[in-house]
Amino acid sequence: MSAQAAPRPRLTFLTGASSGLGEALAYRLAREGDTVVLTARRVENLEAVARKIRDEGGLAVPVALDVSDHEAVMRTLGAVEAEHGPVDRLICNAGIGDPLPARQFTTDAVRRMFETNLYGVTSCIEAVLPGMLERRSGHIVGVSSLAGYRGLPASSSYAASKAALTVLLESLRVEIQTSGVAVTTICPGFVKTPMTERNKHPMPFIMELEDAAEIMHDAIRAKTTHVAFPWQLATVVRAGRLMPDAIYDRVLAKQRADKR
Ligand SMILES: NC(=O)c1ccc[n+]([C@@H]2O[C@H](COP(=O)([O-])OP(=O)(O)OC[C@H]3O[C@@H](n4cnc5c(N)ncnc54)[C@H](OP(=O)(O)O)[C@@H]3O)[C@@H](O)[C@H]2O)c1
Repeated sequence: MSAQAAPRPRLTFLTGASSGLGEALAYRLAREGDTVVLTARRVENLEAVARKIRDEGGLAVPVALDVSDHEAVMRTLGAVEAEHGPVDRLICNAGIGDPLPARQFTTDAVRRMFETNLYGVTSCIEAVLPGMLERRSGHIVGVSSLAGYRGLPASSSYAASKAALTVLLESLRVEIQTSGVAVTTICPGFVKTPMTERNKHPMPFIMELEDAAEIMHDAIRAKTTHVAFPWQLATVVRAGRLMPDAIYDRVLAKQRADKR
């Protein structure tokens, strides 16, 4: 009887792994047995996350990456695939959430948001999608937001970047649904992470980090097409989509940017 080589662990490429939801997700993915490529700009944080994973017996590879640098994304993913084999799961979680009050509105500010929240994702997809389609297998996951469901005060650039991301991922999904490549869109509401720490506005139904990471991980494992949570805020936001502008505007009036 010939000895069979052990199957290679699934290779997961995760962006935004240095804090918050990405970090919490990284531990869960590693416990599943994946080799997790941890990426973000703060390398010291990534190394600390990698150490914790290895201490638990998991596999982690920390790699510095700014997702807003298209060439760096292409180069990094090329190098990772050359060294570790094809990426099986791409999880695009990196994002920024700076507010943009109307009085500070500039195209540059909107562009900066899109460079990370939208093009940071599209660059990663561009790097791995051809291989996934060729192999007829793979999973692309994007972390969008309930903020992308309808316009929000002082969030024009963030909400627009997430709306664009949600529709982009859905468009890809419906096109490649029989290709063997799955697409998952994750839309959290408010979660206690460094991103929301500085928010002064009300954050209804805000969730604990670990609870949110658990829902995200379940959706990734099940290859759910679209998950929106917590259900209470997702329901409110879905209802908001059906509201006529006059009512929607009145509901949001309390949160007007100029009252912040
Ligand atoms: N927290 C919430 O309430 C909430 C709600 C809905 C959606 N989300 C989404 O969830 C995702 C994770 O956010 P979080 O709440 O966990 O916030 P966080 O703790 O601030 O994490 C953001 C992550 O993105 C990384 N990142 C930001 N810009 C980057 C860049 N240019 N290149 C590479 N990495 C970059 C950060 O790493 P470095 O700074 O080290 O690069 C960090 O690891 C984001 O996409 C966010 O929009 C969060």
